[in-house]
Amino acid sequence: IKIYSDVTTDYNIFEGKDPIELVEKYGSPLYVYNERIFRDKCREMKSLLKYPNFSVSYSAKANSNLTLLSIAQEEGLNVDAMSPGEIYVQQKAGFKPEQIFYISNNVSAEEMKYAIDNDVLISIDSISQLELFGSINRGGRVAVRFNPGHGAGHNAKVVTAGKNTKFGVEAKYLPQVKEIIKKYDLNLVGINQHIGSLFLEGTAYIESLKSLLSIAENFKDLEFIDMGGGFGIPYHKQEGQERLDLKKLGKEIDTIIFEWVKKYGREIHFKIEPGRYIPAECSVLLGTVHAVKENYGRKYAGTDLGFNVLIRPVMYDSHHDVEIYRKVDLKSDIKENVTIVGNICETGDILAYERLLPQIFEGDVLGILDAGAYGYVMSSNYNNRLRPAELLIKEDGTEKIIRRRDTLEDLIRNYEL
Ligand code: LLP
Repeated sequence: IKIYSDVTTDYNIFEGKDPIELVEKYGSPLYVYNERIFRDKCREMKSLLKYPNFSVSYSAKANSNLTLLSIAQEEGLNVDAMSPGEIYVQQKAGFKPEQIFYISNNVSAEEMKYAIDNDVLISIDSISQLELFGSINRGGRVAVRFNPGHGAGHNAKVVTAGKNTKFGVEAKYLPQVKEIIKKYDLNLVGINQHIGSLFLEGTAYIESLKSLLSIAENFKDLEFIDMGGGFGIPYHKQEGQERLDLKKLGKEIDTIIFEWVKKYGREIHFKIEPGRYIPAECSVLLGTVHAVKENYGRKYAGTDLGFNVLIRPVMYDSHHDVEIYRKVDLKSDIKENVTIVGNICETGDILAYERLLPQIFEGDVLGILDAGAYGYVMSSNYNNRLRPAELLIKEDGTEKIIRRRDTLEDLIRNYEL
């Protein structure tokens, strides 16, 4: 086997296994995860701060595979849910209600009741939803999500604070928040924020933390402050993109928190809610090249990696580094621009546009790197395609399918005829 890669990563996803054999054994496409790396990332996040009263809530939207969730639980992480469905799955993975934090936005009374009935704490995203919460759960424990006015993210679609987003309550509505809390005798136990997804340097995170702390000063009985997620990973490894300096960021956060807690007058719990950072780099998505062609001067490598399997490049113009695996050495030391496309009937079904890579041949297996976050969870059955299987390479080196590939029957399972 020959592996073509310009990537120097610290990671060894396959633990010496042959990705081509994995595809032969389990089918293509295939999400492959590495347990050791996943666990390392959980631990790295847990050690972000020296401040002792600190916990990590894994934002499970990034990857909610049941097995990965239970590993995160084993590692001592808590978890964030974005829907009753996530609460349900997280409980199945072993999380206790008090470990789950439901960050709601624009939800029905039924959804709120689902969380309340399951003893799961909810974060509320607007004045009117706080009013609704009060009316159905007078005297209840609740958190409010604020919009600190600073955002960050790899694409406008994932900047979740600042002036151009639906999320959070603006600080100018603090009087209304207090009024509703009083009216319904609510117990505001925490405030939270999330500025957006994927920053590689901490300025916006630090700025928004400061804003959140000044909002916190309006409330005397908070149990926790949740600073949000957004910790980025370098998707451009082939170009040597720098990593987020977690040590530096951790120190900066620590300095601010230790100082502020003195001023606030008592211990308070601090949380972060990383999603992407935990599963992104433990996974490679494998796919197969079925056709190579040239159309009007552009070279295409046609694969089974349509946007039903990985939508990030189509949705956000996201970059994923690509590796090429091949059994025989076909002498492709020449590099050329190739556009890697999927098998979905849409022109926009492009995984990588004009990427400079060694020549790709039919039969090659491609590895799409850093596919563990917002990969499988955003996959679909569009074009009635089957969602792929997910394979875990365990710490002891054994392989385990942790989600089977869809079957044709799955496609018609919910129809009423
Ligand atoms: N907390 C809240 C309230 C969030 O909305 C999010 C993600 C997170 C935490 C976790 O953010 P992370 O640490 O993963 O950056 N599908 C997009 C990312 C959307 C993220 C939106 N919010 C992507 O594929 O890049």
